[in-house]
Amino acid sequence: MVPQGLSNFCLLLLLFLHSSPGILAVNNEDPTAKIMEEFSGYPIHEPPHSFDPRSLLSSLSVDVQLLLSQIADLSTFSDTPAPAITRILYSEKDVLARRYVKNLLGLAGLSVREDAVGNMFGRWDGYEPELAPVATGSHIDAIPYSGIYDGVVGVLGAIEAINTLKRSGYKPKRSLEVIVFTSEEPTRFGIGCVGSHLYDIPYNLTFECSRLMARNEAVMKALKTTFDKQNISFLEAARSAGYAKGVDDLSSVFLKEGCYSAFVELHIEQGPILDAEGISIGVVTAIAAPATLIVDFEGNGGHAGGVLMPHRNDAGLAAAELALDVEKYVLESGSIDTVGTVGILQLHPGAINSIPSKAHLTIGMVITWLEVAEDTRDIDEKRRNEVIEKIHESAVAIARKRGVNLSFKILNQDPPAHSDKSVIEAVEVASKELNLTHKRMISRAYHDSLFMAGVSPMGMIFIPCYKGHSHKPEEYASSQDIENGVKVLFLTLAKLSST
Ligand SMILES: *[C@@H]1O[C@H](CO)[C@@H](O)[C@H](O)[C@H]1NC(C)=O
Ligand SMILES: *[C@@H]1O[C@H](CO)[C@@H](O)[C@H](O)[C@H]1NC(C)=O
Ligand SMILES: *[C@@H]1O[C@H](CO)[C@@H](O)[C@H](O)[C@H]1NC(C)=O
Ligand SMILES: *[C@@H]1O[C@H](CO)[C@@H](O)[C@H](O)[C@H]1NC(C)=O
Repeated sequence: MVPQGLSNFCLLLLLFLHSSPGILAVNNEDPTAKIMEEFSGYPIHEPPHSFDPRSLLSSLSVDVQLLLSQIADLSTFSDTPAPAITRILYSEKDVLARRYVKNLLGLAGLSVREDAVGNMFGRWDGYEPELAPVATGSHIDAIPYSGIYDGVVGVLGAIEAINTLKRSGYKPKRSLEVIVFTSEEPTRFGIGCVGSHLYDIPYNLTFECSRLMARNEAVMKALKTTFDKQNISFLEAARSAGYAKGVDDLSSVFLKEGCYSAFVELHIEQGPILDAEGISIGVVTAIAAPATLIVDFEGNGGHAGGVLMPHRNDAGLAAAELALDVEKYVLESGSIDTVGTVGILQLHPGAINSIPSKAHLTIGMVITWLEVAEDTRDIDEKRRNEVIEKIHESAVAIARKRGVNLSFKILNQDPPAHSDKSVIEAVEVASKELNLTHKRMISRAYHDSLFMAGVSPMGMIFIPCYKGHSHKPEEYASSQDIENGVKVLFLTLAKLSST
């Protein structure tokens, strides 16, 4: 139960807020505030120090219909018809989608800023604006023929959580910030054909910009020499979308360590666990430690009829052998949570009568934890790195044995990220207060949060997605689950921004 006085107070705030949004200004001289104080018997010029977010529960009014209509609106900015979404970095549709979201940030009364690569920040000043803000957000890009919820729920849901906080009369102590991460999909600056320079940065570039934000110099350097298939450079593309004007140095995108007191991302699970177990909220305790390897073998090729077997150095067979070794070493690692995948295997020239002269593989490796214990972190990362080392040794041996040339690149070998205790607890308490079933879980998918962990305490809120479908048009999250997620985010932000 909420004390009578407090609920009256909230009601009053609501009434006043609708007519006068500036009412909560921390200003003793404010005549309206004075009247309100006399009227309510509550001192409102001094926001309560021991603010109890539970009092917000009584005025929690997520407008889920509005949110769903915004999700539907955003899905129209796509190069393929909804529900198959294609929204490529800095494309016309991406620019329109950004404009749509930017407008919503403005309508929510947030002050909006964009950085050199188009990351958007919408800030709501707290009454102690010198404190590090609390941030939330996600991305709105979409790989070809993907779904409408991935990332989007965490952006539009964050804006709705802010709007709900405002409607409820809440005034944050720390500023609150919504971040819309610029994403760069492999589709554009991603993996090209064998032998091309285009695959210099092939991994999911969505997290590339968060990586950039997390002060990654290598990524900053690489972006300068990254071109898409039309030979448009990253910077040119960014400029055509209205960013990076007159800038060559992207270090302005770097975030300072400690720039946020917490970052929390709402996201669909992109896996089947919550849906299968009928649980409403996933409290993410850690994000998997991924790595990406790029391997190229090169042999002499030749006519498939003319060159006899003893005289061949078939790059395709070297690749096939390595792919099986990847499976073998992963299985031998002794951890069910280590996975490795040869997701791309391209042969050149790719003709029925030609011995492959080139083979290109990308190997994705992920390690996750069953145990959330801090002390397994190093062990697991070490285990993954040992597997990578074995794959490397194996590639060298195969190349020598088969007389082919080898290029072996480790594109990224990220450390795992653990959620911060403060965020985990805030999300759990929020779920409890809302009577929502919840469980702790790890994220096996990459998220912007993985890199935000480098500059800020971090955590994530997962909601179920139907059968775990993601990155395809079948991706679906129910309105109830979306509403639950926004409610949990709402309370989590209130908790984190009031301490
Ligand atoms: C791509 O553009 C660069 C200059 O922007 C040029 O030097 C290079 O030759 C071009 N490459 C191709 C394949 O067109
Ligand atoms: C392997 O690399 C060496 C040195 O760059 C080169 O001379 C040789 O032609 C390459 N072999 C093949 C099969 O590409
Ligand atoms: C949660 O359940 C308790 C006990 O049934 C109830 O008193 C409370 O109002 C519920 N809270 C919400 C937010 O539904
Ligand atoms: C890239 O990572 C983000 C992280 O949240 C994910 O949502 C997105 O679907 C990923 N895209 C690809 C192509 O893997």
